[in-house]
Amino acid sequence: MDLSNLRLYDFRNFAEFDVTFKKGINVFYGDNAQGKTNLLEAIFYITALKPVRAFRERELIRHDRPLAFLKGLFNTRSGQVNRQVTVYRDRKKEVKEGENIKTRWSELSPGISAVYFSPDDLNLVKGEPSGRRRFIDNLIYQLRPGFYKYLQGYHKVLAQRNTLLKTIKTKPNLTKTLDSWDEQLSEFGSQLINERLELLKRISFLSEDYFKKYTQDESKLKISYRSQIDISDPQLIKRNFREQLAACREKDVIRTYTSVGPHRDDIDFFIDGKDVKQYASQGQQRLTVLCLKFAKRNLLYTDKGEYPILLLDDVMSELDKHRRQLILEREDHQVFITTTDLKFVPEDILEKSFLYHIKAGVLR
Ligand SMILES: Nc1ncnc2c1ncn2[C@@H]1O[C@H](COP(=O)(O)OP(=O)(O)OP(=O)(O)O)[C@@H](O)[C@H]1O
Ligand SMILES: [Mg+2]
Repeated sequence: MDLSNLRLYDFRNFAEFDVTFKKGINVFYGDNAQGKTNLLEAIFYITALKPVRAFRERELIRHDRPLAFLKGLFNTRSGQVNRQVTVYRDRKKEVKEGENIKTRWSELSPGISAVYFSPDDLNLVKGEPSGRRRFIDNLIYQLRPGFYKYLQGYHKVLAQRNTLLKTIKTKPNLTKTLDSWDEQLSEFGSQLINERLELLKRISFLSEDYFKKYTQDESKLKISYRSQIDISDPQLIKRNFREQLAACREKDVIRTYTSVGPHRDDIDFFIDGKDVKQYASQGQQRLTVLCLKFAKRNLLYTDKGEYPILLLDDVMSELDKHRRQLILEREDHQVFITTTDLKFVPEDILEKSFLYHIKAGVLR
């Protein structure tokens, strides 16, 4: 799948913009604050229909303008897709494919997707566990939309159990009613954990392999799931979870929240047995995240049959020469990268790339 044409009106610092892209490597270069990241963001937004860095979608609209409009022409296996998105200040965005307004995910052309990597993504290894859980859960959801019902079910029951814990503080005779919530929570929770373990197995295998490819020395990446629950036997997760809930009940009543479960689990990264968060160099941490993203792209391809667009923001300057080379040399799908200076892109890769100079929201 690839994006062959993009038009923007009043998106971030782009007033009016129309550009044609090719398959292969597209390089956006220019000084700081000219719109390189904004352009990657536009590509991600029209592809994934969610913002990368904006907290509210209306931040995407150019200052003092009423709306932003994006139009993309995608080539997919099942034909050309003309997608248009209008972002409003005061109401929900409108998504169209051809002439038809689309209100549900299931109505959209399948296989249009993108994987984004930016320096902020270091937070995936360095930041809070919630970011890692979100990464995994979102990916499972992307691959298997049916997963949403477990995720939603789990969080609903969890919220209800927590509310009950607060009530029990003043009405201890209600303690026994926790039993039915524990049953439901362990039912949804065990499904959730099993899905995560299954995905993690696939994604670790691929990430570890990428890591090996991009590292000159013998160092090895290992990724593992961490839970307070004994997860060694998938069949017993539900039982073990319930036991843990029972064991923590007294403590949970005092603290008025549920202290064990997949909402507290985490994913650990190790390079040669050492925790990446605490011991790895900045470059190794970056490479770890990059490998995860590459693995994600690979999984999307395997399961959806279309290669996601790859968006790499400011990655070149952060990697050593050898890795820049390896990461891009075999690339024949569509990739967009940004850089402040073309010297960060290896020469032989530049030769086969399409270059776009960006200055103050305009191609020059
Ligand atoms: N909604 C908006 N309306 C108008 N301008 C905006 C909006 N959002 C961001 N900008 C401006 O867009 C400019 C370009 O930002 P962008 O992040 O794309 O720069 P960049 O080329 O990636 O720079 P760097 O090399 O520093 O990463 C910034 O000056 C920013 O203030
Ligand atoms: Mg930028």
